[in-house]
Amino acid sequence: MKPKVFITRAIPEAGIDLLCPIADADIWSDELPPPRESLLQKVKGVDGLLTLLTDKIDSQVMDAAGASLKVISQMAVGYDNIDVAAATARKIPVGHTPGVLTETTADFTWALLMSAARRIVEGDHYTRDGKWKTWMPTLLLGPDVHGATLGIIGLGRIGQAVAKRAKGFDMRVIYHSAHRHPEIEKELGVEYVPLDSLYAESDFISIHTPLNDSTYHLINNAALAKMKPSAILINTARGGVIDPDALYRALRDKQIAYAALDVTEPEPIPLESPLLTLNNIIIAPHIASASIQTRNKMATMAAENLIAGLKGEKLPHRVADSR
Ligand code: DGY
Repeated sequence: MKPKVFITRAIPEAGIDLLCPIADADIWSDELPPPRESLLQKVKGVDGLLTLLTDKIDSQVMDAAGASLKVISQMAVGYDNIDVAAATARKIPVGHTPGVLTETTADFTWALLMSAARRIVEGDHYTRDGKWKTWMPTLLLGPDVHGATLGIIGLGRIGQAVAKRAKGFDMRVIYHSAHRHPEIEKELGVEYVPLDSLYAESDFISIHTPLNDSTYHLINNAALAKMKPSAILINTARGGVIDPDALYRALRDKQIAYAALDVTEPEPIPLESPLLTLNNIIIAPHIASASIQTRNKMATMAAENLIAGLKGEKLPHRVADSR
């Protein structure tokens, strides 16, 4: 009998094609994630779980699955939705998909940065609203990107890929990270600075840190108050790194100039969020890794992790702090 797996949403075919010969896969086919009760029902007696960042995978889910559960494989690089300690306590390895989405996410970070600086979304609305009557010397002015200072918070894979691109724009790149990276500093020509200096000196600030206890609401009133009034803040990491109320006040009062977010707290952003009343913000629906090639690779990698776990083998891409 094939092992049973529950896949919490339809994933690209590349992953399904790998899994189907090996496992009996139950795929949640709705557009929305399984509600909690359905998730707890569906996981009963499965050998493996393939999850997305929208599923809260905690000890209750693991207990509902029971002793048969051998592996949890997340189709994302981030895994703050999974209680890794609870999985480890049960000797269940957790897999994720690092590396494959680095360049795609860095591309998108730049798309947001350029769109915010050069006011592309506002320009599109202006055109569609029939406001474009003539060429105007002062229409939709924004700051230059080339030659500006980019501050990167978190110099992991994605932060580095963003820094590399900045060099093509002759930018000064400064960073702050939990650990210093002297080799990378040399290789990429980036400078380590204390967080307060990063806030004070950056024209653009891009967040690339995981969400954990020390980064939750890192960007709060105090941090925003240290930024330049012309600063543009970009977040393609996790919504919880920014306090949304503080960001609203800072953008409304022009304490900073602009924000461009791919991630929000909560997700999706509620339609009544005051952030959506502002013109100086762009909000994308968590699509930084959404290239055709990358989503196929993520699905393949998640399937490979799941298959390895089902066979009792070491996961090719195991979360560092899991079993
Ligand atoms: C991840 O993999 O963590 C991303 O947020 C999904 O694109």
